[in-house]
Amino acid sequence: MQQFRGFLFLVFFLAANAGAQTPLANAAIASAHPLATAAGKAILQQGGNAFDAAVAVAAALAVVEPYGSGLGGGGFFLLHRARDGKQVMIDARERAPFKATPNMYRNAAGQVLPQASLEGPLAAAIPGIPAGLAHLAQRYGRLSLAQSLAPAIRLAEQGFPADARYRALAQSHLTLLQRQPEAAAQYLQNQAVPEPNALIVQANLGKTLRALAQHGASGFYRGAVAKEMVAAVQAAGGIWQRADLARYRIVERQPIAFDYRGMHIVSAAPPSAGGLTLAEALHILERYDLNALKPAQRMHLVVEALRRAYHDRARYMGDPDFVSMPLQRLMSPRYADERAASIDLANATLSADLDKAPQVQQGNHTTHFSIVDRQGNRVAATLSINTFFGSGFVAGKSGVLLNNEMDDFAVAEHGMNVYGLVNSGPNRIAPGKRPLSSMTPTFVEDARGTLILGAPGGSRIISMVLLGILNYQSQTQVDLQALVSAPRYHHQYLPDQLEVEPDSFPGSVLDELQLIGHVVRVSKQKWGNMQAVWIDRASGEAFAASDPRGIGSGVAWH
Ligand code: GLY
Repeated sequence: MQQFRGFLFLVFFLAANAGAQTPLANAAIASAHPLATAAGKAILQQGGNAFDAAVAVAAALAVVEPYGSGLGGGGFFLLHRARDGKQVMIDARERAPFKATPNMYRNAAGQVLPQASLEGPLAAAIPGIPAGLAHLAQRYGRLSLAQSLAPAIRLAEQGFPADARYRALAQSHLTLLQRQPEAAAQYLQNQAVPEPNALIVQANLGKTLRALAQHGASGFYRGAVAKEMVAAVQAAGGIWQRADLARYRIVERQPIAFDYRGMHIVSAAPPSAGGLTLAEALHILERYDLNALKPAQRMHLVVEALRRAYHDRARYMGDPDFVSMPLQRLMSPRYADERAASIDLANATLSADLDKAPQVQQGNHTTHFSIVDRQGNRVAATLSINTFFGSGFVAGKSGVLLNNEMDDFAVAEHGMNVYGLVNSGPNRIAPGKRPLSSMTPTFVEDARGTLILGAPGGSRIISMVLLGILNYQSQTQVDLQALVSAPRYHHQYLPDQLEVEPDSFPGSVLDELQLIGHVVRVSKQKWGNMQAVWIDRASGEAFAASDPRGIGSGVAWH
């Protein structure tokens, strides 16, 4: 039976991929900022494909959403090429500098120095986004890198109006931004949060984007920009060397792919934990008919699946170039059966009763965008500088705001990161290693069509994407806006609590969950900023939707 189902799926999947070569009725983009969506649309209208548009959107976000991602950060681009059905993940994740050591964030007594992995240049890993953009343009694009970077260069040099989200985040990170003159000059006005619609001009960043446009990756990783960044980092106590930049490389990785109840899911591979954690949780949930259950019972099972999958995230996952992970085992339905065997339908499991695993962290930061062009090329990209405004350190006159992605490593064997995630040996710091991530750009293919989705939000990214997939599966008529708007809840093994968005679930449901032993914590704020595109297989029509929690925009046009 299992084999027959596999065969049927293969037939369906081959047919689906063949269908992807048929031109669509239109193109669609959803991103976290209207100016970035507009940049991508302009590039598609100039004859670019989805990969060129991804360069334009990512670079524009680096300018207009400097708190979420940027040239000083990293990320994952999940691609589907219509021509031959190729699916690949561009791993542009940051790497630890070569002088990094496992104990670099501890004092002589072995105590962890919590701020050291979060603020200032010592917190910054070697950026991957510029190399990712150059690779996308060169290997997959139709336009030149310079053409696709042009909208971002304009936004940096001519400025963009400070929007409400920018101002709110500058306000909540004012002390961090005031700490360094370069950061204050770039993001504040007279050391204060810019007035509404005041123009944020980033002339230095514009020059760096021009260097990238003119010379490709070496415009960033070698030459004057690299020299300036390394000098600024070293002068402020950081450990970057020119060789760290010169030797940075993106990696093309095979995405994680698996099936769940008639859907084929393609998602981020390690060093993201996203795809594997999603696969394990969904394989556990496959045993239950979730749509037939009452809300509290459904939430209970989803939480128990997440608890077990995040537990394995902490135990096993890390950079595949450094650690070997039991991939086949984690992906196998039989392993999911083993994990599910300990689920009690009437009681919450205590995370403490699962095997002990060391801790790590991640936040509600980062950015995501989804794109499809008329040829059916697709991009799901999740990009980050880690926490809002990253390390708060602008590398001198390069105008590049550096990430604090080093905090995504297991800074201490049993410590937690900024997201409260526990990490362990597989994610210990090593020179040149990539920190484990939760970014989960994902494609979902089924008989109805193809969903392109993802979200920012640190450790909550994986549960958001999982809920997005479950919502999609339960919709009889696909409603993309409802999907990105749906209320969210989250569990990540440790801390052992079920976090729910405020004003989102009936008190009676939460009471029921508490009665069976869940520690329910209603979060102060809603989280995430999901950006989704859906292609209706029957009509070839593409739709886009942007999460109402953010200020982004989804557009679809003919
Ligand atoms: N820094 C967030 C993540 O990579 O998951």
